[in-house]
Amino acid sequence: MIDIHTHILPHIDDGAKDVEEALKMIEYLERQKVHTAICTPHFDPRKSSIEEFSSKREKAFQAMYASKITLISGSETLYHDLLYQYSDLDHICINNTKYLLLELPYKDRWSDYDMKCIIKLMNLFNIIPIIAHIERYKFLWKNKKNIRQLMNLGCLMQINANTIIDRKQRKMALHYIKKGYIDVIGSDCHNMSQRPPNLKDAFVIIEKEIGNYYCDLLQHNADSIIQGIMIRNDTGRFMI
Ligand SMILES: [Fe+2]
Repeated sequence: MIDIHTHILPHIDDGAKDVEEALKMIEYLERQKVHTAICTPHFDPRKSSIEEFSSKREKAFQAMYASKITLISGSETLYHDLLYQYSDLDHICINNTKYLLLELPYKDRWSDYDMKCIIKLMNLFNIIPIIAHIERYKFLWKNKKNIRQLMNLGCLMQINANTIIDRKQRKMALHYIKKGYIDVIGSDCHNMSQRPPNLKDAFVIIEKEIGNYYCDLLQHNADSIIQGIMIRNDTGRFMI
């Protein structure tokens, strides 16, 4: 399996506190049959430049030479107008593709302005945003119209494994997967205690509740992202 959203890399954000913890997380991922993890440390354009972030991430990668699974570079980038100072966002995209794991500001309402910001980001940098843990934005999660709008632009939707594992949120999350509103699942693991790698637990539930077809589809999408293959065209339809 591929885990598309992880905070394994040490000394860079609020994820693994040191190499020891990072290696423990990797050991656990390996036991969960995860062969590849995309490392997506938080990137906040207000706190550092892309250059500073990339160099810190590179050092963290070097410290992880003992990893037994494949580690791929990425980021979880917080949307901010400061991103427009750059000529490209290549270094924060996943595996140098056009896919960017994007965290949106947390708000109560979704406005036309928010939509325009995402369109601007996509048009200026020719990127495909993967909206990180979409379940956290209540204005999106509870309004399919807003999700559809983003999907029609070509954005992808990611949910956290925990949303499937949590009994209160499971029903809605599985319904959204079946309806095609969710493209990928990530563990968003930060440590071995409160937020451990738990991707397999979610996939076991998905297989049991709605079938293996959806497990394969979600993993196929993760693989396409790493390879930079388009999953949807610009009308929101899946590519064949
Ligand atoms: Fe995250």
